[in-house]
Amino acid sequence: MCRLVASTQPSSQSTMLTILWTLLSSALPVLGPHTPVSCPKAKECFLALLSSHDVLLECTISDTNWLFSRLSGGGKPVNLSSVSNIRKSPEGGLHIHNPLPSNTGLYQCLDKYGTQVTSYKIDFQDITKLHATHTNLGQKPLMNETLNLSHREVVYTQWGPWQRCNNCGRQGERKRLGYCYIKEPLEEPVPCGLYLWGANMFYARIRPEMQVEICFVGCQGHLTGGDYVIFDNFKLTEESGSARLTCPFASIYRPVHWEADNSPLTWQDQLSGQTVSTIMDLHSGGQHLKVFQPATYRCFVEQELIAQFNPTERQSKAQNPWQPRIQPDKADSVLRRLKLMVLSISVLAVGGLLCKVVFRPVCGKKRSQVLLVK
Ligand SMILES: *[C@@H]1O[C@H](CO)[C@@H](O)[C@H](O)[C@H]1NC(C)=O
Ligand SMILES: *[C@@H]1O[C@H](CO)[C@@H](O)[C@H](O)[C@H]1NC(C)=O
Ligand SMILES: *[C@@H]1O[C@H](CO)[C@@H](O)[C@H](O)[C@H]1NC(C)=O
Repeated sequence: MCRLVASTQPSSQSTMLTILWTLLSSALPVLGPHTPVSCPKAKECFLALLSSHDVLLECTISDTNWLFSRLSGGGKPVNLSSVSNIRKSPEGGLHIHNPLPSNTGLYQCLDKYGTQVTSYKIDFQDITKLHATHTNLGQKPLMNETLNLSHREVVYTQWGPWQRCNNCGRQGERKRLGYCYIKEPLEEPVPCGLYLWGANMFYARIRPEMQVEICFVGCQGHLTGGDYVIFDNFKLTEESGSARLTCPFASIYRPVHWEADNSPLTWQDQLSGQTVSTIMDLHSGGQHLKVFQPATYRCFVEQELIAQFNPTERQSKAQNPWQPRIQPDKADSVLRRLKLMVLSISVLAVGGLLCKVVFRPVCGKKRSQVLLVK
């Protein structure tokens, strides 16, 4: 087993996180920070995705030129350098960072002669409107609704496949994402944002969904054979008594699982509205975890251990028994007040300028990959 130990002094910086992400990306090539998306060659396709989750639009050639047209405004392409969260990747794809619903539109990949290779019509559905339900709590997804615009349009949820179970060998949970589509009789369904673009109408039913259920699968192969990163010394802030932990590579598009001192944290507990001792961030699919107790937290992506978060020594030695402490709604307001606060997880720095870095790959038998950090 290889471990990448990132140990630090005080507080974190997003650049450091980026560096860590880059290091981890090379160590864990299967998982990237963004989700790759592709459409058939030379054919226009409709896609529904979620806002706030990075995607990489693929194009089969490398010497590309991309055009983006919002569906309003006559469909004229906008200058891509004026859209701050979009940039071309060196491989020719288009990277959309933290997409907003306003990134909804037509994306065309052209070759150097200006011929279209692929085009995407993408609806980035508003993640802040996500409707989450848990089957085992008897919660029901949204129902179909007729719009009565002119063609008896039906708004409904088109479900993606169930993701893998987030745990194995013991009870886990799996989720699937559902996107809002509109269908007219005898027509192909179209993602809601693309259908209604420019219509300037508000319908409460127009929202994406997430459904969770309990699952149980056996374990196959090595579970903890991978590299994982240890974040030492996270601290609960004095003001809120909480800390926000971020699991690298976790995303709403992947199975994510958290444990606190080896006890699983579940969506079932959280969505049941009971008192919970931690809060998984719904809109990131559990990438972020808000904690109120010093404990050892671990996160798994695709059933693989990715990171461990150790509390500071002073706090971990405190005689705090592990116990539920806060209601979700209270925590939410705390969260809002703290939006701008510095992350209290400790992350590494580079070059020893701001903090000292300790990279200590400890290697054993399972995986041949070795992390080399100079
Ligand atoms: C896009 O904008 C940039 C800077 O604002 C400019 O340099 C470039 O020429 C523009 N491209 C097109 C195709 O208009
Ligand atoms: C909802 O609408 C979709 C699309 O028309 C249809 O396939 C589905 O069967 C409907 N579901 C229900 C419960 O009526
Ligand atoms: C459309 O009409 C049906 C039946 O007339 C009604 O039940 C439904 O609420 C209407 N939908 C909207 C969005 O107004």
